[in-house]
Amino acid sequence: GEVAPLRIMISGAPASGKGTQCELIVQQYNLTHISTGDLLRAEVAAGTENGKLAQEYMQRGELVPNDVVVAMVEKKLASATNGWLLDGYPRSLSQAEALENMNIRPHLFILLEVPDEILVGRVVGRRLDPVTGKIYHLMYSPPETPEIAARLIQRGDDTEEKVKLRLETYYSNVQSVLDVYKPVTKVVDGNRPKTEVFADIQNLITELQRETEKAVAQF
Ligand code: AP5
Repeated sequence: GEVAPLRIMISGAPASGKGTQCELIVQQYNLTHISTGDLLRAEVAAGTENGKLAQEYMQRGELVPNDVVVAMVEKKLASATNGWLLDGYPRSLSQAEALENMNIRPHLFILLEVPDEILVGRVVGRRLDPVTGKIYHLMYSPPETPEIAARLIQRGDDTEEKVKLRLETYYSNVQSVLDVYKPVTKVVDGNRPKTEVFADIQNLITELQRETEKAVAQF
């Protein structure tokens, strides 16, 4: 039968594994991945006005102002007709309210939980492949070939000092966002191998698809 397009949000502290799980989710489900972190890094790399403004906040581990972020996300959402996967958005009450005002709501809000002391090790060892965009970790998810290893880059905000600031920003905003999405929130233990974390997420999505099919059948 007809399947409603999935609308999923994924949230969690810096380096909790949002980007890693999103890679796996979009491989399996045909969703538009919207990562505000990735979109902002692309603006910075392109040297746009928004990028120049965003860079200062990102380097301090603070939230980029809504004038930059909100319109950027809304534009992407408007083109995501086959469903979406929002990664790192909304990150504050005002961002959640902006979506609520447009009647944009998720079916499922995934919260990845990982202890702080684990997050620091993940941040420091993270590397990115600028060619494929893939996320690696020197210990937990090493590059497949020496060729890839040679071209990996490190994010400017991936230091022990900066992750502390990013964590402070996260903890001062997360509760107000969780309050908005409480009825559709599922907490997932992110402190396990990424395939195990993904298996839990697959189960949640399967459950969600069964429920929406049932609702459509009743209607
Ligand atoms: P963003 O890029 O979203 O950064 P973040 O929230 O700090 O999250 P990360 O990208 O650091 O981590 P992740 O959870 O995706 O983890 P990953 O999968 O890479 O935002 C950057 C900045 O942009 C913000 O600080 C802010 O300034 C700005 N910004 C973004 N959104 C904004 C918004 N809405 N409003 C305003 N400003 C905004 O994994 C991390 C590492 O761990 C990797 O090396 C990975 O290989 C490894 N790993 C992953 N899973 C596992 C596992 N299960 N076991 C072992 N290792 C694992």
